[in-house]
Amino acid sequence: MNVLVVGGSGGIGLALVEHYLATNTANVFATYRTNKPALNHPKLVWYKVNVTVESDIEELAKLLPKLSLLVNAVGMLHDGEHNPEKSVKEFDSNFFNKNIVINVTPSLLLASYFAEHLKSKTTSHFVTVSAKIGSIEDNRLGGWVSYRSSKAALNMAMKTISIEWRFKLANTCVLVFHPGTTDTELSKRFQRNVPEGKLFTAEYVADCLSRIIRDTSASDTGKFYSYDGSILPW
Ligand SMILES: NC(=O)c1ccc[n+]([C@@H]2O[C@H](COP(=O)([O-])OP(=O)(O)OC[C@H]3O[C@@H](n4cnc5c(N)ncnc54)[C@H](OP(=O)(O)O)[C@@H]3O)[C@@H](O)[C@H]2O)c1
Repeated sequence: MNVLVVGGSGGIGLALVEHYLATNTANVFATYRTNKPALNHPKLVWYKVNVTVESDIEELAKLLPKLSLLVNAVGMLHDGEHNPEKSVKEFDSNFFNKNIVINVTPSLLLASYFAEHLKSKTTSHFVTVSAKIGSIEDNRLGGWVSYRSSKAALNMAMKTISIEWRFKLANTCVLVFHPGTTDTELSKRFQRNVPEGKLFTAEYVADCLSRIIRDTSASDTGKFYSYDGSILPW
C-alpha cells in the first residue's frame, strides 16, 4: 500500500504518517513545507514541497508511484499578521486570498496531477482535511469569514472532483473530512472554550480518519465525514 500524506509536518498530518507507518504494511510518502520533521523510518520518504506552487506538485507527481491513498492535511486558519475575523468589518482581501491559496488550491492541483496515480482496479482514496465550519447549512454562528469561505470552496471543489471521477476513476473514493477541534498549532489560541472531552489529540483524529478510509469504498465517494463517522451536511 502506497500512501501520500501532504502536509505531513502538521499536527494531524504527522499523526497520519505515524499511523500508517505503524501498520507496517504501508510505504509512506509525506511532504513538509518548512522544517523536515525528525521522524525517520525505512518505509518513509519525506519531500520538501510547497503545495501552493503548481510546479512543486508537478515535480512530486513525477517522482511518486501509484497510490492507494492521498490525504491532504495542509491548512491555515491564522498567520502571523491576521486572526480569523470576528466581524466582516475586519475583512482583509489579502488574508482572504491567502486562505484560498492555502486551503483550496492545493487539493485541486493534487487532483489534477495525481489522478493517474489514484486510478486503480481496487479501491483508492483521495481525502482532504476540511472543517465543519465550511458547511453552509451548519453555519449558525457566522464569523471567521475567510477561513469559513475557503473551506466551503474546498468542499465544493472536492464534491465536483468526486462527480467527475465517478466514471473516470471508478474505484476512487473522494472524501472530505472534519477532524473536530484537534490540539495542534492551528487551533492553539482558540482552545479555551472547547467543551470538556472535545479537544482531540492528533493521534485520535488520525485513527478516526483511518477507520473511515478503511470502511469506505467508491460507492461512498463525494461524502463529507465527521471524525465520529457521521455524515455532515454541505
Ligand atoms: N486543528 C483543528 O482543530 C482543526 C479543526 C478543523 C479542521 N482542521 C484542518 O485540519 C488540517 C490540518 O490542520 P492541523 O491542525 O494539523 O494544522 P497545523 O498543525 O498547523 O498543520 C498545518 C500544515 O499545513 C502546512 N501548510 C501551512 N501553510 C502552508 C503553505 N502555504 N504551503 C504548504 N503547506 C502549508 C504546514 O506545513 P509546514 O508546517 O511544513 O509549514 C503543516 O503541515 C487543516 O486543513 C485544518 O484546516 C483543523
